[in-house]
Amino acid sequence: MKFGIIGLGNIGRVHAKNIQDGLVEGAELAAVANQPIDTTDDFKKQGIACFGDASELIESGLCEAVIIALPTHLHAPIGIQALEAGLHLVMEKPLACHKAEGERILAAVQREDQIASLMMNQRTHPCYVRIKQWIDEGELGELQRISWTMTNWFRPEIYYASSPWRATWKGEGGGVLMNQCPHNIDVLQWLVGMPVKVRAQCSFGKYHDIEVEDEVNAYFEFANGATGQFSASTGECPGSNRLEIVGDRGTIITDGNEVKLIRTSESVSTFSKNTDEMFGTPETTEEIFQPLEEVNQHAAILNNVVKAASGEAKLIAPAVEGLNSLELAGAMIYSTWINDEVCLPLDSAAYEQVINQKIAESQPRKIIKTAAKVDMSKSYR
Ligand SMILES: NC(=O)c1ccc[n+]([C@@H]2O[C@H](COP(=O)([O-])OP(=O)(O)OC[C@H]3O[C@@H](n4cnc5c(N)ncnc54)[C@H](O)[C@@H]3O)[C@@H](O)[C@H]2O)c1
Repeated sequence: MKFGIIGLGNIGRVHAKNIQDGLVEGAELAAVANQPIDTTDDFKKQGIACFGDASELIESGLCEAVIIALPTHLHAPIGIQALEAGLHLVMEKPLACHKAEGERILAAVQREDQIASLMMNQRTHPCYVRIKQWIDEGELGELQRISWTMTNWFRPEIYYASSPWRATWKGEGGGVLMNQCPHNIDVLQWLVGMPVKVRAQCSFGKYHDIEVEDEVNAYFEFANGATGQFSASTGECPGSNRLEIVGDRGTIITDGNEVKLIRTSESVSTFSKNTDEMFGTPETTEEIFQPLEEVNQHAAILNNVVKAASGEAKLIAPAVEGLNSLELAGAMIYSTWINDEVCLPLDSAAYEQVINQKIAESQPRKIIKTAAKVDMSKSYR
């Protein structure tokens, strides 16, 4: 598959390297686009077609697929162009700045066999893959509670100060929920589905000089009465990553390095009804899963896209499922604004009206021209 990469910043260059290093079977880097054009010079030297304008790459006829790794506010306009031109699409996460924009991207898909995938690379994280298998096999029984403390996304001030679009309403439609946590919110809904009610308290610019949220505490309710809690922060260090999923037949706990499944010998609710022991509990057994090796998650998603295009695999992360994480993030932000709970599904048009108001009031960031040192391997959790 001939890939074009649009946006050669932090993550666009990771995708280019994965393809050029031969880590994506059947893939070739045919073209790149970045503004200004002289930032593509290193690719030009390697004989790769370079463009300063995304539309020129899309119309060039050189690519069968594009990876869009642009600032989030450009995902919708450029993604729609690429889909309308009939190209396969791999969109960086999040799909868009809010649900209505995401819906417009999906409406631009032209054909049934046209791929629209999302770089929700954590769906290939071995711990989350194992959890998904266990849940699908029924190991947990009926969901009772999910709790995710995801506060090890620490970002220092320079991360924001050196970028005009990050952590602005206009640039990405939010902060930690729209930039770092889309992965976690996506995995959460992938594992246990969407809640029906959200109550959240976001703190805007609590730890950084930003207008959007950098700390979140949320409470969820699911259709079956199960409850959920989600905490996120870019201001804590070292922070933690602890996911607990509790069901009637078992509990799963992970810190992202290993996963523990605790099985109960019988349904907890049945035991509760039938036991005559006042302080009795069902017997439990534990199984620990430790990944044997690290997975190159970004390359794994691209490999899946190539296979899906030739009908050999199902998409791991279809773009349409990116609407759920946009919806959940939006619901948490909206709940804070109205100081009340939000019932899902979120009315995407109503949310767009409110966020457009925030965008209109948004103050452009004063850019401090400090050259930030970038080591992308430190960015993933
Ligand atoms: N999946 C992941 O692990 C992951 C990691 C980092 C970022 N992301 C996502 O990827 C996207 C990009 O993030 P980043 O950190 O690489 O951003 P970045 O700012 O480092 O890179 C964006 C690039 O786009 C270029 N650009 C801007 N406007 C353009 C235009 N109109 N035409 C052509 N080029 C243009 C900029 O010059 C820059 O090189 C964001 O949506 C972000 O959320 C995903």
